[in-house]
Amino acid sequence: MRKKIIAGNWKMNMTYEEGQKLTSEIVNMYKDESISDVEVVLNVPFPHISTVKKLIGSTANVFVGAQNCSDKEEGAYTGEVSAKILKSFNTDFVIIGHSERREYFNEENELLATKVKKALEHGLTPIFCCGESLDIRTAGTHIPNVKFQLTQSLFDLSPEEMSKVVIAYEPIWAIGTGKTATAEEAQEMHLALRRHIASKFGKDLANKTPILYGGSMKPGNAKELLSKEDVDGGLIGGASLKSRDFVDIIKSY
Ligand code: G3P
Repeated sequence: MRKKIIAGNWKMNMTYEEGQKLTSEIVNMYKDESISDVEVVLNVPFPHISTVKKLIGSTANVFVGAQNCSDKEEGAYTGEVSAKILKSFNTDFVIIGHSERREYFNEENELLATKVKKALEHGLTPIFCCGESLDIRTAGTHIPNVKFQLTQSLFDLSPEEMSKVVIAYEPIWAIGTGKTATAEEAQEMHLALRRHIASKFGKDLANKTPILYGGSMKPGNAKELLSKEDVDGGLIGGASLKSRDFVDIIKSY
């Protein structure tokens, strides 16, 4: 049985007060509406990590994550935040390779491979993002394109390391656009990625690897997307900034 994970990605949003309010609302709804079999991750801007962790407290199945980490261990890298530092703040997950980091900060597959290793070395669960541009989708080469991202960034991992990785498929053309992949499009890619993982690490490990969908998942479309065999959850941007919407997506499972 694969884990079901609904992860929120706040991106560069939420002041201190807004983040406190949002987290408290989500945690209270999670408990009051007796949700239990879905893991929830709040991937927040770095300054929020400690206080969000504290608000989560001992709530089972609710975790805090970062949105990036350095490929470096420690030292003179002004502005960077290492996996080692994140772990020291009891961070649980870390998003790696989000398309916005690939685009705006030129993060390439080889660098991301190092970031995944660093996260694993320090006991963080990587949420490794992959996904194609609209041009690639239109050209019909999206499946080999996204498989290549996994090959380049994950296929040097040991089976033991890979068993700890969560994948998030986020078609770039669906991120923040309101244009969501159909459930069939998501299922097609997720199945292709699972088979690709199996080709390297074997079927057992592939069948245990959670593959999340991200890209305009909302309360109105979550149920259909999450009903698909190889969709194991969501990585939610805009809808994670509103507690009712985010919890409704969780309850869509
Ligand atoms: O990381 C999740 C994000 O890229 C999806 O954003 O706003 O389309 O849900 P959104």
